Amino acid sequence: MPAVVITSQDAPEFEGKVTIYVLVCVLISAFGGFTFGYDIGISGGVTAMDDFLKEFFPVVYERKKVAFENNYCKYDNQLLQLFTSSLYLAALVASLIASKSCSKLGRKATMQLASLFSLVGVGLTAGAQHLWMLILGRIILGFGVGFGNQAVPLFLSEIAPARLRGGLNICFQLFVTIGILIANLVNFFCSNIHPNGWRLALGLISVPAFILGVGSLAICETPTSLVERQKLDQGKKVLKKIRGVANVDLEFDSIVQACDSARQIKDPYRKLFSPASRPPLVIGMLLQLFQQFTGINAIMFYAPVLFQTVGFGNDASLLSSVVTGSINVLSTFVGVYLVDRAGRRILLLESSVHMFIAQGIIGVILLKDLKPLGSLDKAEAIIVVICVCAFVMGFAWSWGPLGWLIPSETFPVETRTSGFALAVCCNMFFTFLIAQAFLSMLCSMQAGIFFFFVGWIVVMGLFAYFFIPETKGVPIDAMREKVWKKHWFWKRYFVDGQDED
Ligand code: BGC
Repeated sequence: MPAVVITSQDAPEFEGKVTIYVLVCVLISAFGGFTFGYDIGISGGVTAMDDFLKEFFPVVYERKKVAFENNYCKYDNQLLQLFTSSLYLAALVASLIASKSCSKLGRKATMQLASLFSLVGVGLTAGAQHLWMLILGRIILGFGVGFGNQAVPLFLSEIAPARLRGGLNICFQLFVTIGILIANLVNFFCSNIHPNGWRLALGLISVPAFILGVGSLAICETPTSLVERQKLDQGKKVLKKIRGVANVDLEFDSIVQACDSARQIKDPYRKLFSPASRPPLVIGMLLQLFQQFTGINAIMFYAPVLFQTVGFGNDASLLSSVVTGSINVLSTFVGVYLVDRAGRRILLLESSVHMFIAQGIIGVILLKDLKPLGSLDKAEAIIVVICVCAFVMGFAWSWGPLGWLIPSETFPVETRTSGFALAVCCNMFFTFLIAQAFLSMLCSMQAGIFFFFVGWIVVMGLFAYFFIPETKGVPIDAMREKVWKKHWFWKRYFVDGQDED
């Protein structure tokens, strides 16, 4: 492959090629995203399977059978929602522990732990004989997700050359979407396998988890993590290997410098609340709130349930979620292609308008025509599916991947793992909230729930316009100088040496 010089406007130039080895590392680590995506996609289908409901949630099963049950309320059950949401609550706690593991043991070891947790969790959920086994299994799986989601995006941002960081980092999200799609397909097939289809559906999470665990034996640790742990020689060796050139001095020096100043910081969590950390912290946490309040997981978790609500039969509903899952994957490629060309901001802004329109139309149709009893006519139900696809498309090339990319690239090294951990933790918290509350909100707000999401989309669009700076092509350790100190609003936190404290 030809040598390319990594450049960006007024940023240092680092030498390096895009080596096959880096691509292999990206591919293997992205299986952490696959596991996460599979977890997201599988629970909606499983909770719509009668065999599963009969065994663990007989009340919901009975209610579902009653033909005149209120459309908006037939799945409203706190325990059923807990089955989906418990995973995210556990992941929330796990991400804080995982940040310590990332800095003390490294990104690679944290990924291996993620794989281990996932495998144990799968065993418990797929083999569950009692509700408690099911929930305990979901909690352990949640630890897998928390560890994986903490380590993988950081790993990707740190091994990628600056010029391609966005695209390579989005491979995490790409694998999340592939995981969701495969889960949708598995749901579709397993719903016809009686009585143990749901066990197979849950058990297959072991495949990506196993690939992550075994595959990670073959990948490197990131140079930053090695230098952070005083393994300088090894760090330089790895940097040469992943960049494919002999002279990596400039980039290596910048990593060493960043880690040296990081070492002065005794308590990275305290440092996180200093003025200079405010911009990445506020943006990193709000991005998670916004990402979840687009309403994406109302669709990802409950697409089959939602499609049944508007009047599709069981199979048609599962199939429609396969369609939305495929759109999700394909549109993420658009993000991979555009993020380092058009930049982050334009994607966020375009999709806010795009998602606003799509969710708005869904809300209007449901408000007008979906009454608690009865269903939409065919044409309207199809328009709803098209709008769901348009909405998913917008999310998939913007708030989805950028919710992970931006927090992984904007913190300085001294607060990178702790800052990113808080972002992951917020993501899991808001994911938990939506998973736990959506079906109840749907029941009480009915079509109004879509206008709730539309309102949030307006807020996030405005926030992106005013407060999210462009980080395309800026080396990961140069954000302070090149981005924050130049931003109309955030520069106020960098006056009079405040950033040195
Ligand atoms: C989000 C998930 C979401 C997925 C959809 C991810 O970025 O964090 O909550 O389900 O995108 O593709």
